[in-house]
Amino acid sequence: MKIYSGLLSVLAFGGVLFSYSFASADAAKGEAIFKDTKVGNCKTCHDTGDKKKLGPGLKGISDRASKEWITKWLEDTQAVWDANEAYTQDLKKRMNKEGKPKPAHKTPVKLTPEQIADLIDYIGTLK
Ligand code: HEC
Repeated sequence: MKIYSGLLSVLAFGGVLFSYSFASADAAKGEAIFKDTKVGNCKTCHDTGDKKKLGPGLKGISDRASKEWITKWLEDTQAVWDANEAYTQDLKKRMNKEGKPKPAHKTPVKLTPEQIADLIDYIGTLK
């Protein structure tokens, strides 16, 4: 009986650990989306350090852009481009794209709100 209850507490503890790692898997999911050439394809155009590829390196992105701005950018890039808020103006200046009608950033598929949240968790780890 003693052995059984010991086994049960090990199982229960394992369950707690499992649900914890499950709940915090967002950044890991975001990293997979970042690399998947058929979903986010972010890695093709963005370095995770500060090197410029087709787009800017994303190191420190969560320090320079707000979560709201990044969310909107990933939801509807053209709308953010046209709204031309201060941060977007800064991005255009850095990329030599002032006056250009269209952004070059685009993803293979339209991302779901959940995928966007996972991506934001992941790129927030690029420090
Ligand atoms: C086809 C290339 C391409 C792909 C794929 C791409 N981007 Fe971009 N991204 C760009 C370019 C280029 C810019 C700069 C603005 C512009 O010209 O569109 C940019 C800008 C950004 C910015 C603003 C960076 C800054 O320094 O302010 C973020 C954030 C971003 N992209 C995130 C992502 C994420 C996350 C993905 C994947 C879901 C992704 N991008 C996929 C090309 C790309």
